[in-house]
Parts: sequence; C-alpha cells; structure tokens
Amino acid sequence: MKRIVVVGTQWGDEGKGKITDFLAQHADVVCRYQGGNNAGHTVIFDDKKHSLHLLPSGILNPKIFNVMANGMVINPKAFVEEISKLKDFKLAISNRAHVVLPFHSELDRAYESSKTNKIGTTHKGIGPAYTDKAARIGMRMSTFIHEERFYQQLIDMVDQKNKELALYHFSKLDAKQIFDEFKVYAKQIAPYVTDTSVLLNQQIQDNQKILFEGAQGVLLCLDHGTYPYVTSSSPTAASVPVNTGIAPWLIDGAIGVTKAYTTRVGEGPMPSEIFGDLAHEIRTKGKEFGTTTGRPRRIGWLDTVILRHTKRVSGLTYLAVTLLDVLSGIKTLKIVTQYDLKGEIIDYIPSDIEDFELCKPVTIDMPGWDQDITQVKSYDELPIEAKNYLSKLSDLIGVDIAIFSVGPDRNQTISIKDIF
Ligand code: GDP
Ligand code: IMO
Ligand code: MG
Repeated sequence: MKRIVVVGTQWGDEGKGKITDFLAQHADVVCRYQGGNNAGHTVIFDDKKHSLHLLPSGILNPKIFNVMANGMVINPKAFVEEISKLKDFKLAISNRAHVVLPFHSELDRAYESSKTNKIGTTHKGIGPAYTDKAARIGMRMSTFIHEERFYQQLIDMVDQKNKELALYHFSKLDAKQIFDEFKVYAKQIAPYVTDTSVLLNQQIQDNQKILFEGAQGVLLCLDHGTYPYVTSSSPTAASVPVNTGIAPWLIDGAIGVTKAYTTRVGEGPMPSEIFGDLAHEIRTKGKEFGTTTGRPRRIGWLDTVILRHTKRVSGLTYLAVTLLDVLSGIKTLKIVTQYDLKGEIIDYIPSDIEDFELCKPVTIDMPGWDQDITQVKSYDELPIEAKNYLSKLSDLIGVDIAIFSVGPDRNQTISIKDIF
C-alpha cells in the first residue's frame, strides 16, 4: 500500500500520533485532514515526549513532508506557538483550510455554558469554526494571509459575533486588537500556505508514500458518531478525499487504531464504561488524562460493537492495537460483543442517543495475564493469554492486526505485517 489512512476507531486518543510516527519511518508525506487543536497526539522517541495538536505527527522527522489539508480548522496563535518549538521541518498548509479566531473559542464556551446536556467540548472553538464554514461565512487561509481582506472580513465577523456573544452575556471582543495580534501570525504562516490538493496529487504522481493522519475517532464523527456527543468534522477514512482534494480511488487502505480497551473524554453514552478501583487502576497505568485538556478519561472494556461500526462506516484494512501492556495483571478481561436494548440483543449503535443511553453491554470473559509485557519485541514473546485476547479481538471485528504496542515509546511498537 502507498496511501494509507490512520484512523481512530473509538472516541479518540487511541494512539494515532504514535502509530503515525511509527509508520512515518517508511513514508514520504504525513497529511492531517480534519479537526484542529482539539486533537492531542503524543509521540515518544529517544526518551523525549512530544505533544502535537495541529501539526501532523511527521513534523518531528526532517525527512517527512507534512501537509495540513483543507479539511482542517487552524488556530493561528496555537499554530505559531506549536511551530516555534521546532527547527528543521517541511510543511505546507492548505489555502482552503479555515481559520479559528478568538470569537470561535468564546462562542464554544458560551454555547456549552448555556446547555443542560453539555457535550464537554475542548473549548477550542472547533464547532463554531466549522459552523461558519458550513454557513459560508468562515475565513479561509487565503483571506487570512491577505492583510486588507483579512481586516475587512474580520470587522464584519467580530460585529456579528459580538451580537451573538451578548445574548449569552459574554464580553465583546475588539476587532482592532485581534487584527493587530493576528496580522503578525498571518505573516509567519503565509510562507507555508499553498494549494495542497495540487501538491498531494503531484506527490501521488511521483509515487510517494503518504500517511493521512486522522484526528479524533470515528465515534466522534459528525455523521457516523454518537451524535450530538461528537466533534464537528469527519475522522473517517472515507472523508479523506474531500478533506484533501484527492480522488477516492487513490487511497489504498486504512489502519484502524484501537486501544486494547476503551476510553472517552467528554460527555455522552459509553456502554462499556467501568467505574471504581479497576477503572482507577487502568486510568493510572495508562496515564489516561487528556493531552489537550488534562481531563481524566472515562474507562471501559473493549467494545467490539463500536469497532464493527467503525469498520463498516470508515473501512479498515488492518488494525493497530495499542496499550496492550496496560491490561497486564487483570485476572479476567471482558469484551463487549453486543448490547441489550430493553431486553432485545442488538449488534449496532442505535442512531437515537436516548436508545444508546439505554444499551447495556453483553460481554464475554477472557483470561488475563500477569506478566509485564513492556519489553516484548515480537508477537511470539507475548503470553498465550495476550495472544488469545488479540486473536479474539481480531475475529470479533473481522480485521487482521498489523501492529500492536506495549508501551508509549516508538520502540515499544511491534509490526506483525508490513504495511507499506
Ligand atoms: P491520539 O490522540 O490518538 O494520538 O492519542 P493520545 O496521544 O492522545 O493518547 C494516547 C496515549 O497513550 C498517549 O499518552 C501515548 O503516549 C500512550 N500510548 C500509546 N501507545 C501506548 C502503549 O502501547 N502503551 C502505553 N502504556 N501507552 C501508550
Ligand atoms: P485526538 O485527535 C478525544 C471530544 C471532546 C468532546 C467532543 C467535542 O487527540 O484523538 P470539540 O472540542 O471537538 O468540539 O469536542 O469531542 N474530542 C476528543 N476526544 N480525543 C480527541 O482528539 C478529541 N477531540 C475532540 O472531548 O467530547
Ligand atoms: Mg489525543
């Protein structure tokens, strides 16, 4: 395969950054195709930890060409902060990507504060920025880097957004102040801005190996996720063509990244959720606290209903199973195979969120293993119980496992099948 999508199969934080970084050792290009700095992707190698929010996970490798495609929403201030820590990198930003401005984050807070059923957003302004895009009043990168046009559009936008913020009793923003601060960022960003669809198609013609790095996870997809408890873009592999400007048939496959269990940050139903000491143990061992907001992640057993859903709506060629080491020492592991919805056994995610709330997990038990597996270097070295767990997971989803990982470091990632 030459063009592969790295897609989160659950509710985000599956280890997409780590798997992208691992695969990028054999790639030419890494392209982020949606989301913004609501994402937090952790990459660890040479004893150094890197937290990436907007930048593609190939940015730490000076040989990789990185692309931020048109499907992204980019906060210029966050971008400049993130890029300032780096020296040697190759990057292009789409002229059609949308810009996240201060009133987007303010509106994100305003909407959340007024809701009884909060989504638990990251408050990064992602929903309001995509709302403006869909309403055809958003600001694109090409406007942002053109000082006069930026100024004109900003004046109109701030005027309109201040009216809206007033309805929520939020303070007004000063357009001139935003302009003075953001025109500086625009100058720093301008050299990277180009038509990335043209660029990607050229790279494809040149037979380059490209990784498309998703943010969030398919259960957070605006269309196929657990609406309304979702983000405002589509992380599915199917969304790559429209979010990057390449033809659908140029994509060769998708690697679905799944934790060996389930986590979720933010609100919304999670049938596999567990509480108490065991949840606390897994959260502590897996360091399950949000990379972006620091919030504790909710913990659940592996849920194969959601993974089969992801396989159907997104397409998954192979699986990469992460955080297997975290399950060491748990006597019995449960896997969710179906749901019980008011006495009926079902094998799908109800579209109605009230019904999804009512779903109780139907589980099977798998024997756990005691050994520390963090130093394991091959599949053969795994305890038999861990092998059985992986093969059950693969059978229940109907997708082969290509990679598994036993620790956060790049060298704790083990390839079972060559992907490129
Ligand atoms: P992403 O958003 O999908 O890129 O994932 P995050 O980086 O937000 O969260 C994944 C977390 O798990 C990070 O803290 C990683 O360092 C960590 N991680 C990834 N793979 C493994 C693994 O195999 N074992 C352990 N213990 N931690 C891992
Ligand atoms: P990565 O790429 C986990 C969640 C938020 C909230 C919902 C909507 O690191 O996997 P938003 O700010 O997008 O409007 O919030 O989506 N969310 C994530 N959860 N990982 C992420 O990204 C997320 N990005 C958004 O917690 O529930
Ligand atoms: Mg994350």
